[in-house]
Amino acid sequence: MAKRKGITVSRQLMDSQMLHPEATGELTGLLNELIVAGKIISAEVNMAGLADILGQSGKTNIQGEEVQKLDEFANQTIKRRMEQCGYICVMGSEEDDDIIGVLDGYEGKYTVAFDPLDGSSNIDVNVSIGTIFAIHKRKSKGKQGVREDLLQKGRDLIAAGYIIYGSSTMLVYTTGDGVHGFTLDPSVGEFFLSHPDITIPERSKYYSVNEAYEKYWHDNTRNYIEHLKELDYRGERCYSLRYIGSLVADFHRNLIKGGVFLYARDKKSTDKPDGKLRLLYEASPLAMVVEQAGGMAITDDGRRILDIEPTDLHQRVPLILGSREEVELALQYFAD
Ligand code: AHG
Ligand code: MN
Ligand code: MN
Repeated sequence: MAKRKGITVSRQLMDSQMLHPEATGELTGLLNELIVAGKIISAEVNMAGLADILGQSGKTNIQGEEVQKLDEFANQTIKRRMEQCGYICVMGSEEDDDIIGVLDGYEGKYTVAFDPLDGSSNIDVNVSIGTIFAIHKRKSKGKQGVREDLLQKGRDLIAAGYIIYGSSTMLVYTTGDGVHGFTLDPSVGEFFLSHPDITIPERSKYYSVNEAYEKYWHDNTRNYIEHLKELDYRGERCYSLRYIGSLVADFHRNLIKGGVFLYARDKKSTDKPDGKLRLLYEASPLAMVVEQAGGMAITDDGRRILDIEPTDLHQRVPLILGSREEVELALQYFAD
């Protein structure tokens, strides 16, 4: 069905549900609940500069990083909506060490892993941040879901996406039939289709990497970035560097404009031998989105992100993703 700019996200979800006669409406219901959570977080993010809620809360999360108040708000908001929505049986959040159950009697057939607020170091400086989510179908048969329901490969995702709180709030998601982008009109509280069938440009002119870590890079990262910096590999033009420090914002720009994002392993962090980013609620969902948009997502040893078998809720993974040509070029440097 041709997608018309301006339709609401609930209309689009309904339309695509009708294309699947076997659909029960539960996935639509679940996505709608996540969207409501996104709207609540968006309103709070927009108030953040006004209300006195900024600053550290003093706690640290499982990653040993400081948790800021908006992170907690986003985490609580999503958990509360999810635990009683009736569509999931278990969830996993960046901010919670362990898996999170749902209310008794509300067990459903899906699972959700999420990064409630990605880019938290940017919260108090008015720079884009976002919520990333990943949805699988449960595997276990009991009432409540278990850890194994969350530890599934990216290629088995049912839906994935993010809500970015930027100059406007946007929802970008896929259920495996392309990537759809909706922009929130805050005056009416609705997401309207603004970016139908997003495809990532095959070639790009941007790369996104934390270049301050250059002295800790392994040769493959250094050689690849040198290659991009010297001359465009087509011999036409040079690349520019864009690095925001919010994965979701760097990813979104690259998705729309074309670009490649890297967070590979380096020699600096012995406590983070697999880079910094998390597989289940950062790399995997964005890999599904980028592949659905025609791009690629790999590790720094050339494996496809979506094929990785997760072993831990919070496991980290070296990540290279973006436009097809630049990731294919990366394969020449990074494939084992
Ligand atoms: P989070 O705020 O959810 O902890 O994620 C921060 C991540 C990611 O958004 C970003 O790409 C990366 O940290 C930036 O890390 P560096 O400061 O090491 O470049
Ligand atoms: Mn994050
Ligand atoms: Mn986060």
